[in-house]
Amino acid sequence: MVLVLDFGAQYSQLIARRVRELNVYCEIVPYDTPWSELARREPQALILSGGPESTLAPGAPRMDPAIVQSGVPLLGICYGMQLIAREAGAELVKLDRAEYGPATLLVVGDSALFAGVPSKSRAWMSHGDSVVKLPDGFVEAASTERCHVAAMANDERKLYGVQFHPEVAQTECGRQVLDNFLHRISGIASDWRMESFVDRSVAEIRERVGKDKVICALSGGVDSAVAATLVSRAVGEQLTCVFVDHGLLRKNEAALVVEAFRDILHLNVAAVDARRRFVEQLAGVSDPEEKRIRIGHEFIRVFEEQAAKIPGAKYLVQGTLYPDVIESKTPDSKAGHKIKSHHNVGGLPEQMHLALIEPLRALFKDEVRAVGKVLGLPDRIVQRQPFPGPGLAVRIIGDVTDERLALVREADAIVCEEIDGATLDPKPWQYFAVLTPVKSVGVMGDGRTYANLVAVRAITSEDGMTADWARLPYSLMERISTRIVNEIPGINRVAYDITSKPPSTVEWE
Ligand code: XMP
Repeated sequence: MVLVLDFGAQYSQLIARRVRELNVYCEIVPYDTPWSELARREPQALILSGGPESTLAPGAPRMDPAIVQSGVPLLGICYGMQLIAREAGAELVKLDRAEYGPATLLVVGDSALFAGVPSKSRAWMSHGDSVVKLPDGFVEAASTERCHVAAMANDERKLYGVQFHPEVAQTECGRQVLDNFLHRISGIASDWRMESFVDRSVAEIRERVGKDKVICALSGGVDSAVAATLVSRAVGEQLTCVFVDHGLLRKNEAALVVEAFRDILHLNVAAVDARRRFVEQLAGVSDPEEKRIRIGHEFIRVFEEQAAKIPGAKYLVQGTLYPDVIESKTPDSKAGHKIKSHHNVGGLPEQMHLALIEPLRALFKDEVRAVGKVLGLPDRIVQRQPFPGPGLAVRIIGDVTDERLALVREADAIVCEEIDGATLDPKPWQYFAVLTPVKSVGVMGDGRTYANLVAVRAITSEDGMTADWARLPYSLMERISTRIVNEIPGINRVAYDITSKPPSTVEWE
């Protein structure tokens, strides 16, 4: 197994995921985990992630210096490379102009790290500091026009640093570099498979839960479906699923979810109608974070009430994924910057009475789909598009009311129906309607209207961490727009969102 020390990069898990794609098991640990603790897990290699700070800043996150001396092969990425360089006594400077985006990477010398990499390729850079003088025992292994030491290597001690990001798709040689580090340099076998993840999780959950009872929060999405199935495989009848209809769901979703889980998955499901409670909690609230936090709190309260009806319930299963963790900045990623509170993480009250089981916490959406397949879940559940926990509340900008919920729900149904019915390549990863607080003037028949503006968002993405707006055919956009305006009284204008993530996020709130 390989451990990634997380210095707060938005992309730490992407590193872990690339390693898993090379069939090596990988987990993330906080950057300040002492070597003694890491050593107990017997890692075959360590990777130091990038991070938002400068190693030159006072108080910048550092690792235990014993790590560099441990003899375990080490790859530092960006900030991680600079840390290795500093520990080994190199000189660093702050660049006048930071280097962001694509660069041409030139391989220098013949380090094992770059075996099989073309002498010239595109790599993605994102840094403000640079190594200017190599530490003793290291050689330069690659450079770019603006960064002299774009990679450094000490083949004898198996210490490596890359200034570029091998984990992002834009770096052409990224996969090869990681493959070289894991297999050629560290000698790790490629024998890890998703089946192993399932076996390991089932065994861990069984051992942790013992004879206690577990409840699972079902949202209807892929994540909680997979989490519930995994836990049900581990503890069977000890699991009761609770599905909360918070009234922020898509059209017909509540009925579909209950049917799928009871009839197809044969899980024990208690359905709770909490629609009024959530709308009341949201009355007059327009701040996005406040909405997320209130929904998160109300969720937990409903679950706790349900749990109280199940004597002996001690655990709560949640389908939290890695992007939820990193973007909510929890202790797993202590050096990261907060983007938004995903409800299943950021909204947890401090004194929750149930212990959490989050078996998918280290995975990305597509990895979760792969787990779902291994567990034998039907495609209509595994291939559903992602839907945020706080539901339509974060797709209504401003106050959430019954009327506004009805508007966005109808518009969303049209967007989904039209895109689901179209043959698109690539198929967008997610698509939905957003109700804006904007009203504009229109003309329908011979009369003036003054009604709501709906925005349509459709994105392509691999994991929701980065995304691009989908280039939908004009004819499809036209049908969506015409249908929304004609079929939903109260909407007289439709706009299409043409921003990528970053700089925007997928959901508007
Ligand atoms: P953002 O808006 O953060 O969305 O760019 C990235 C992906 O995450 C989904 N999302 C959520 N999922 N709880 C969830 O389970 C949440 O609170 C939440 N907020 C956003 C979003 O739909 C997209 O797929």
